[in-house]
Amino acid sequence: MHAPENLKPLLQEILQQALTVNDGKVADYIPALAEVKADYCALTVATLDGSVTSVGDSQVAFSIQSISKIFGLMLAMERMGESLWERVQMEPSGQPFNSIVQLEWEKGIPRNPMINAGAILVSDVLVSHFSASKSALLSMVRSLCHRENVGVDSRVHESEREHGARNSALAYLMKSFGNIEADVEEVLDHYFWQCALTMTTEDLARSLAFLANRGKCPLSGKQITTHRDAQRINALMSTSGMYDQSGQFAFTVGLPAKSGVGGGIVAIVPDYGVIAAWSPPLNSFGNSARSMAMIRNLANRLGLSVY
Ligand code: DON
Repeated sequence: MHAPENLKPLLQEILQQALTVNDGKVADYIPALAEVKADYCALTVATLDGSVTSVGDSQVAFSIQSISKIFGLMLAMERMGESLWERVQMEPSGQPFNSIVQLEWEKGIPRNPMINAGAILVSDVLVSHFSASKSALLSMVRSLCHRENVGVDSRVHESEREHGARNSALAYLMKSFGNIEADVEEVLDHYFWQCALTMTTEDLARSLAFLANRGKCPLSGKQITTHRDAQRINALMSTSGMYDQSGQFAFTVGLPAKSGVGGGIVAIVPDYGVIAAWSPPLNSFGNSARSMAMIRNLANRLGLSVY
């Protein structure tokens, strides 16, 4: 990897270029997201030597939404081991993230943990296996970020619940096939709550650095997951983290990545570090148009790809 000594001028140039991208529309399925300023833009790179370089609004916390699927999955993998994969598959869905059709054909077994059905299944595992699933997740995220005040936007949490008919349908469909163990409303509440976690691009880049470092946090030296599980999470992000645009992202960027409808995207560069980008307007796949452009340009300029 040939990263320049001083990344900042390059990140600044890439952010300025991204501001000329005018595609997309801020998520408007709930008011709390629709009101977020469209011109927020941030780019952070955390490298394995512990340095963090940022430009733009990297200190502004935003709703991480589906990026939380990575944190939930980590805890569920640790608790369930191999048996998790009897209840959720590891295949790309080729469908929108909240699609329901495939779930009935496939008898309530979600295609992967990166789509909504898969993350709701993972939430069931957490609710069923932890006495307090939310605090278990929150304390893990806080310790990964090395920041105690990572929070949850209660307004987003409440309105996710009010506008969650499709997620409820996914959960009850899985329950009808016997693939949800706990009370469905409790499972949904956990899922909506984790979507409402708020973090900055710096938090995201720092907290996920262990995925670029064979499962070990480069700051604390602590082994967060096994090397094998870090590889598996990266593989799932590569095939499914950008939903039905994952193939295009692999082709044009070539890094494991995960997006959320808050406009954030994280990309893992094994043995190098993490890129985190944020800009609220989303393309038709639910991926941030400017965040994708920033990660693509940076990866291309630095020659970063896992392929
Ligand atoms: O569950 C939902 O549909 C929303 N909270 C969106 C989650 C999300 O970020 C999906 N992806 N882009």
